[in-house]
Amino acid sequence: MEDHPSWRALAGKFIVLDGPDGCGKTTQLALLEQNFRAGGVAVCRVREPGGTPIGEQIRGLLLSSRGEGLHMRTEMLLYMASRAQLVQEQIKPALANGQTVLADRYTSSTLAYQGTGGGLPWNDILAVARAATENVQPDLTIILDLPVDKALARLGNGGKNSKRRNQPQSGLFHDRIEQRTKSYHENVRRGFLLQAEQFPDHYRIVRALGDPGAVAEHVAETIVNFFHLVP
Ligand code: TYD
Repeated sequence: MEDHPSWRALAGKFIVLDGPDGCGKTTQLALLEQNFRAGGVAVCRVREPGGTPIGEQIRGLLLSSRGEGLHMRTEMLLYMASRAQLVQEQIKPALANGQTVLADRYTSSTLAYQGTGGGLPWNDILAVARAATENVQPDLTIILDLPVDKALARLGNGGKNSKRRNQPQSGLFHDRIEQRTKSYHENVRRGFLLQAEQFPDHYRIVRALGDPGAVAEHVAETIVNFFHLVP
């Protein structure tokens, strides 16, 4: 990917990469971070749920069998609690220091997974999000979109032969969410696409099919266009 000298104009901006499980978000975040750093940008990369010592404990509860029996509302509040901690510990200070915050998921995930996927009203989630994040909102949320079949295939049918099989140390082998039904994942995808439709000033969709290098080019192009960066 070409270095982009004008990346520096992204100082103090908050960018989120989000999308359904299996969309290739982690690879894309790594490529984008590399690209930003090569362009002289001070990057603060965070992930959700987790990203802080407290948040990692909440992540353990949410994504393991210890979370059995969680009500959807409790689940939503736990994701928000993890996010509240992340905003205070990492995101706000980084933005105040002129860093570019690159986040792996944010409120957009809660709207898609617990909202459209889990049946909670978006207005409830947005009200909690306002309080939890002190209304710190991303400048841009990029949704990596692909058909559910392709996404589940990437994960190895959502758990059984999952990528995590080779990473038992991640502690997420029994990830509760990836094991939910296909129709849940269809709703989650719809939830992401609906957000892009409803909040067009802050969302962009990037097709996530194909070679990661090509997707990365498209992500970079999307950022250049969105922020009107001069090459
Ligand atoms: P993910 O980014 O997939 O982490 P990893 O790649 O390490 O497994 O996130 C874990 C799961 O959490 C994912 O299935 C989506 C889910 N999730 C929600 O349901 N709601 C939320 O608000 C967030 C942030 C994540």
